[in-house]
Amino acid sequence: MAGLSLKGISKGFGNTPVLGHIDLDIVDGEFLALVGPSGCGKSTLLRIIAGLERQDAGSLFIGGKEVDHLRPHERKVAMVFQNYALYPHMTVFENMALPLTMARLNLLERIPFVGALSSRKRRVMQEIKQHVQAVTEQLRIETFASRKPSQLSGGQRQRVALGRAMVRDPDVFLMDEPLSNLDAKLRVHMRTELAELHDRLGVTMVYVTHDQVEAMTMADRLAVMDQGAILQLGTPAEVYEQPASIVVAQFIGSPGINLIPAKVGPAGLVEMMGFALPLRAPVLPGAPVTIGVRPEAVRLQPLPGDIQIPVKFRRRENLGSESILHFSLPQTEASILCTVSNDQLPANAGASQTTLAVAASQCHVFDEGGWRVTPVGLDARAPAMPVGVQLRPMGAAA
Ligand SMILES: Nc1ncnc2c1ncn2[C@@H]1O[C@H](COP(=O)(O)OP(=O)(O)OP(=O)(O)O)[C@@H](O)[C@H]1O
Ligand SMILES: [Mg+2]
Repeated sequence: MAGLSLKGISKGFGNTPVLGHIDLDIVDGEFLALVGPSGCGKSTLLRIIAGLERQDAGSLFIGGKEVDHLRPHERKVAMVFQNYALYPHMTVFENMALPLTMARLNLLERIPFVGALSSRKRRVMQEIKQHVQAVTEQLRIETFASRKPSQLSGGQRQRVALGRAMVRDPDVFLMDEPLSNLDAKLRVHMRTELAELHDRLGVTMVYVTHDQVEAMTMADRLAVMDQGAILQLGTPAEVYEQPASIVVAQFIGSPGINLIPAKVGPAGLVEMMGFALPLRAPVLPGAPVTIGVRPEAVRLQPLPGDIQIPVKFRRRENLGSESILHFSLPQTEASILCTVSNDQLPANAGASQTTLAVAASQCHVFDEGGWRVTPVGLDARAPAMPVGVQLRPMGAAA
């Protein structure tokens, strides 16, 4: 087993830069998800780790050793691709045994009839057979070891591809959207299987996905990427609760975070929808900021001190156990979404709702460039006040 260390990895195709100076340390045994929108460079980074693509600058270390000069099969990494990349003319067993026969038999021994005469080949093949069988049992695919990939379901093919990676006993598993070809129900099932497999094997996994739910539910840490850069690295809770930028905040969480335009008033307080929030943003007075509020932090009934936002009801999406309520903000086309559990939903919820409530402590503040700013100097648990009312500084007596 081994950790991974990427130092200043850059890559471009032609004149187009795709990855810019990526630094990333992945701990031994960690499950790290690389997430980000389509085209942000996830697969390219994974292929560089696998040795299938060569970086333009920077170095890669596996288990503390630089591997830049090593070819893919010398790196002790195994990759599972989105399309599984199984050989259609080979059985499940043959597909899984292939990486081992390639590694352990010489060219002559691999010729079917010539090699059969070699006692060494018979011994090696017996060992390979036992190894492959052990992995098929672990993945519960032993009953269809003699079938061809075309005779398998999507989920079964996915497990074979995983098995082919496992037989090599890699130090690092690299997975590129391995579940994206499966239907929604099977994806949920395989998520659990993969997470359990990771726990059992204790192996380092780098898992590429653009599905934030997969990343949030399976990974120890997420690296959120955009346009060839890592915007934030952290546990799912850190990334969700303290998104480093608007892009991260929008990417993680479903439905997406609400964004409300605001500004910094003369006293340095964030002013939103006529309220001065007990948040002093470290940006120049007068500068525009954006407030992010998660849909589940939006309340239908205000608590004391909440900011109250006038809204117009648009529609309700009933998801069974909960509903997503869509509202529009005044004088703008912008929407604000609110998720509510259906058993807490008043009968008149929706059309009759003219205001929504938010606590200042639930407001994320982003500067003009879209980066999170940490408010200073005031107690974020204090109530929001209409603009013009003086707020109590943090630590001051009530
Ligand atoms: N071989 C290549 N030649 C030229 N451009 C490439 C090549 N491979 C990838 N790119 C470009 O590099 C960028 C990053 O591609 P990459 O496949 O890494 O994205 P991704 O994050 O995996 O996206 P997706 O989620 O759609 O799989 C894209 O703009 C893509 O068009
Ligand atoms: Mg990709």
